Order: sequence, then structure tokens, then C-alpha cells
Amino acid sequence: MNWIERPSAPLKAVILVGGEGTRLRPLTYWTPKPMVPVLNRPFLEHTIAYLKNYRVNNIILALSYRPEVIQNYFGDGNNWGVQLTYAVEDNPLGTAGAVKNAERYLDNTFVALNGDIFTEIDIADMLAFHRGKKAKVTIALTWVDNPCAFGIVETDSEGKVKRFVEKPSPSRVTTNWINAGIYLLEPEVLKYVPTNTHYMFEKGLFPLLLELGEPVYGYPFSGYWLDMGTPEQYLHLNCDLLLSKAKSTLVNSLSKDDVCCDKDVIIHPSAEIVGPAVIGSKCRIEQKAYIKGPVVIGPDCHIGDSTSLEVAVLWEGVKIGAGVSLKQCIIGTNTKIEASDQVINGVVTPAHTKVAQIKNTYSW
Ligand code: GDD
Ligand code: MG
Repeated sequence: MNWIERPSAPLKAVILVGGEGTRLRPLTYWTPKPMVPVLNRPFLEHTIAYLKNYRVNNIILALSYRPEVIQNYFGDGNNWGVQLTYAVEDNPLGTAGAVKNAERYLDNTFVALNGDIFTEIDIADMLAFHRGKKAKVTIALTWVDNPCAFGIVETDSEGKVKRFVEKPSPSRVTTNWINAGIYLLEPEVLKYVPTNTHYMFEKGLFPLLLELGEPVYGYPFSGYWLDMGTPEQYLHLNCDLLLSKAKSTLVNSLSKDDVCCDKDVIIHPSAEIVGPAVIGSKCRIEQKAYIKGPVVIGPDCHIGDSTSLEVAVLWEGVKIGAGVSLKQCIIGTNTKIEASDQVINGVVTPAHTKVAQIKNTYSW
């Protein structure tokens, strides 16, 4: 990793924290999407630690959904060694509108990130590319197998963006390089974004800049990248981190068989735990329980006698009866699973006993 070189002005970041994370519902009914736990820490903490690692210490959170949850948790950012500023929207302003709402804090080149992506992109290298191209906007590009859920970005041989197609139908897919939701922007482009109006980068500002002939570039990168905004992807992110396929600056890497317990965890001697697993504080694991990682168990969970867990993420306060079998699952906060139940490829929450399906089984 390169640090952002000096003596240039320190790079500020804007993180877009809006929307309700509809595709993660009902898990995110009370929790803004970036606060969902990843290895038992709010997702946003991982993003902040990643930025801080690049000496991006001045971070503006552009918030529209349940801002108080985030503000109460992070405060001024001092405990995380960063300076946090909040730009709160009265109504959702869209991706570009949210950044416009933070314009007063932006006086130099800055990075903007979608609040639901986990990445190991080298921002310093991207910044060098941006400066080298004298770009007004540089969009990080990542290669995905199926681009239909994203925005595709066509570039010429110099990396100059030619066209965007947001959420293309299969017949409109012309490239597998997609907008990774990480941008370097010059503040002057915000003059094209209307004030206090819902306006998107993807369908508004970027196509407009192309029409105006402004230099907009794509920066392809090959490091880890994932949008955790669906149950499958969220489960995959937790598993990838447990298996060290992805690395978070916030947590030490686990090796394959590690079982990492927080304080006051009680495990019956006849229970068997095969790593990698992270177990939150005050959990109780009863006799003959069988846990096979990758598994994350949130704080205050209870795993009943002879229950088996495999590839699962349990949030806080989950109570699982005896003889239950869970595989490829996400279990929301304070959910109770009755004895002898079986949940495979599903999402369960207390308010929604109906189980949402996880479509792609995690394999490694
Ligand atoms: N503050 C604020 N206000 N943030 C918003 C708003 C808003 O009104 N609307 C969306 N956001 C935030 C979301 O919270 C998320 O962090 C980010 O903007 C992107 O929104 P998503 O709803 O997750 O969009 P997407 O995943 O379907 O598509 C976007 O990301 C893809 C990469 O993951 C697009 O940018 C695609 O082009 C891109 O490929
Ligand atoms: Mg997303």
C-alpha cells in the first residue's frame, strides 16, 4: 500500500450512507445498512479504518437514513482517530445530491465512496492516476461476472469514459467492468449538481460531464471488491474475511482453524468448534454443539445442545434451541430459533419468521 503522498493537501472522503438497504431487509429494518455487523463490528468501522490507513482522516458522512444511529455511535470520530463531519439530508438527495449537500466541506480533490462497498483498492495509486490524467472525475472500475446489478462503464484505450449504462439488461451488457462506487472528484464538478434536489452521479452528473466533454476517467483495479448490499454478498463478505480472502485493517487476520472468542464466553467441553470462527462476548455454547466455520456469532447468543452451525452469521442476542441445524444462514438480532428447526440458505429475523432465501451458496 502507498500512502497518499505529501505535500499535497490531505485527501478528504465523503461516504454515502443513505437509502434503507432495501435488498438487505428485513435485517436492516432498524439498522442503517452500513451499521450491519461484519465480524461483529459495524461495517462502517471497517471502511473508516481502511481510509485512516491511507491517512484519510477527515471523513464526511453524507447521511439520509436514520442518521442518529450513526452519529450516536461514532460521535466526532475521535475514538477511531479520525475527524468525522456529518452532512444530513432532510430527504434523500441521491448520490450526487448527497455530496452537493456536503460541498461546504470540500475545497480540494476528494474521494467519495458508496457506504456499502468493501474494497482493498489502493487509493494512493488511484489518486496518482487521477492527477496523471488531469481528470475532473475518476471512477474506480472492477470486473464482475454478472454486471446487470451494477453500472457498466465503457472506456477508450486511454481509460477515458465513453458511456455508462446503469443496471443494464443482459442484452445491453457490453463490458464486465463496472462502476465500483469509489470516485475521485474535483469539487468544481459539483457546480453541475442542483442544490437540495434528488440527483444521481450514475444517471445525472456523469453522463452530463461526458456530454460537456469534461475529462472523466475509469481506473480499473483488480483487488478485492464487494457490494455487501444483498444477503448473499453480506454473508460472503463475512466468510471471505474469516478465510482471509479479504483483509480488514480493523481486525487481525484469522488463520483457517482459528476460533476467536471475546470475553466471558462459556463453551461446554463436549462442544466442537472448527474454525475459522468469531464468537462475541457472553455467548454460551451448550453440550455437543457442533460449529463449523466460517461462522460469526454475535455477543450474547445461546447455542443449544447438539445444535449444528455451518457457514452462518448470527447477530446479537440470538437464542437457538436444542438440536437445530443451520447452514448458509444469517440470523438477525434477538431472533429465537425453536428446538429441532432446520434453516438452510436463509435469513431469519424476529419480526419475520418467514425465511428469506440466500440464493448463492458460499463455497471455498
Ligand atoms: N446520503 C445518501 N443519500 N446516500 C445515498 C442515497 C441518498 O439519497 N441514495 C443512495 N445512497 C448511497 C447508498 O446508501 C449506498 O451506500 C450508495 O449510495 C449506493 O447506493 P446503492 O443503492 O447501494 O446502489 P447500487 O449498489 O444499486 O448501485 C451503485 O453501486 C454500484 C456498485 O456497488 C451504483 O453506483 C452502480 O453504478 C455501482 O455499480
Ligand atoms: Mg450497493
